[in-house]
Amino acid sequence: MIGRLNHVAIAVKDLAAATALYRDTLGARVSQQQPEPQHGVTVVFVELPNTKIELLEPLGAESPIAKFLERNPDGGIHHICYEVDDILAARDRLKERGARVLGSGEPRIGAHGKPVLFLHPKDFLGTLVELEQA
Ligand code: CO
Repeated sequence: MIGRLNHVAIAVKDLAAATALYRDTLGARVSQQQPEPQHGVTVVFVELPNTKIELLEPLGAESPIAKFLERNPDGGIHHICYEVDDILAARDRLKERGARVLGSGEPRIGAHGKPVLFLHPKDFLGTLVELEQA
């Protein structure tokens, strides 16, 4: 059911420093900072040949990343995103198998303008999983 790894998201406290680390130390191609107030984050996309890394810095008081950074002050992997062909079919299959879909269970429009869902980390080996209809 799941297809390509769309991205790995890393929560960071200092987006400028994280971007410089990826650009200058790791030699990666990085985007401009992109504020996404509806998701409570500012994002920098790191373009790799086979996938993307998203560096996420909290934006606003309600940011879902802020709590994560309280528990992980050095930053850390926040979620991984797999592509699926049909997000509603994927959701129904997962629910049938007892996996918990976060929020209302209805897909939201994610950072790339495509429908996404998040799955409970306790059901997936301690990893927050995002599904994106590619
Ligand atoms: Co994501």
